[in-house]
Amino acid sequence: MKTKEYISQNKEKFLNELFELLKIESVSADPKFKNEVDKASDFIVAKLKLLGLDNVEKIKTKGHPIVYGEKILNPNYKTILVYGHYDVQPADPYELWDTPPFHPQIKNNKIYARGSSDDKGQMYMHLKAYESLKETVRIDFNIKFLIEGEEECGSDNLENFVLNNKEKLKTDIIVISDTSIINNDTPSITVGLRGLTYLEVELTGPNRDLHSGTYGGAVDNPINVLCKMIASLKDDKGIIQIPNFYDDVKSFSKKEREAISKAPFNLLEFKNKIEINDVFGEEDFSTIERIGIRPTLDVNGIWGGYINEGAKTVLPSKAFAKISMRLVPNQKSKKITKLFINHMKKICPTTSKVQIKEHHGGEPVNVSTDTVAYKAAAAAFRKVWGKEPLPTFDGGSIPIVSLFKSELNVDSILMGFGLDEDAIHSPNESFGLYNFYKGIETISVFYRNLSGNVK
Ligand code: BES
Ligand code: MN
Ligand code: MN
Repeated sequence: MKTKEYISQNKEKFLNELFELLKIESVSADPKFKNEVDKASDFIVAKLKLLGLDNVEKIKTKGHPIVYGEKILNPNYKTILVYGHYDVQPADPYELWDTPPFHPQIKNNKIYARGSSDDKGQMYMHLKAYESLKETVRIDFNIKFLIEGEEECGSDNLENFVLNNKEKLKTDIIVISDTSIINNDTPSITVGLRGLTYLEVELTGPNRDLHSGTYGGAVDNPINVLCKMIASLKDDKGIIQIPNFYDDVKSFSKKEREAISKAPFNLLEFKNKIEINDVFGEEDFSTIERIGIRPTLDVNGIWGGYINEGAKTVLPSKAFAKISMRLVPNQKSKKITKLFINHMKKICPTTSKVQIKEHHGGEPVNVSTDTVAYKAAAAAFRKVWGKEPLPTFDGGSIPIVSLFKSELNVDSILMGFGLDEDAIHSPNESFGLYNFYKGIETISVFYRNLSGNVK
């Protein structure tokens, strides 16, 4: 039987298995879901064993487990390492979901569930691509699966694991399906990911909440202060005002920028889909450039004072904000974090105290298109989608990719099959059935393109 035929005959089986995984509430950020995250890791372990892989392990960490499994058929064969994550973002706000986030359902040819696209659906395609090859051809490459449960909270424990297991993870190629394509008529391969630093700011005024009449007007209000501080971080044109913030930002050549602008992009459609009247960003850059090759500073959440029903006259003691910055080559997450902390301390007025907690970070990456692996991926898209994939710079982050490069010295092929409209991290996340099955086929062709001896 042809591999393609096997995939088409097993569509329902593949989908049922994915549904089982999507029912597990593996939210890594919230300790309340720890058992569920663990259950998802057990699910992956079981499926890797069913694939006939060797040395399948659930590796305990200080956080959530890492799952590993391999099939080394011949040391002379090329080795492909698949990375993916089985953890998901919190499903909040639950009330905005049309169907419950952990009860997967098909509507309009899409799988609706938290994690359907990011990344359970996409990660699982690799297991099914391997199965489809195993059942239909003689496999002549080695494979290693490295599936983690902490991507959505920064991959800290995976970093240590990679540092301590370089020999075990030795590979010729790394492939990751955790990004998106431009649209189903325009396949693409991601060549850029932004880095990240994520911080939490706590501003303290008086030692307790005060009556806003007896004290108001004479005591500075930490929420007002925090808002003012945050507002000063960007000017009217969106330029970040932290000194030295742009020092290491790579400037792209005219030729590189022309290549970026080749991607089809319709501004009106972009605005309409998210119902905004206007976009906003640095004047000298297009919308795709603002997302792909420029850094950002955004408030992700802000709170303090009284926010329940009705009114309470209070001058709050504290104000909080979660702030993230997306980084581009050659900015360094640690350096930007320091610049931010120092700047916030400097601009904090004497009426208040500022404390900043670091969450997670990750470095930006650019991937070369001039590698055997990239060419194999492009050829797989040509064969299965009938089109040459465009290289694209995505705005999101996958923290481990830069470490794979620096520690294992291997570029990752970012071969994702999601769409922007999948609404990852949002209510009603979905993943197209077309993308799921087409992805399995493309991955199987990609693996085969890389088959054979290295030496
Ligand atoms: N899969 C995403 C990253 C992504 C999405 C890349 C779309 C390109 C296109 C990943 O799971 C993710 O959400 N990463 C986080 C970083 C993490 C440290 C929280 C992100 O980008 O916010
Ligand atoms: Mn992801
Ligand atoms: Mn994500």
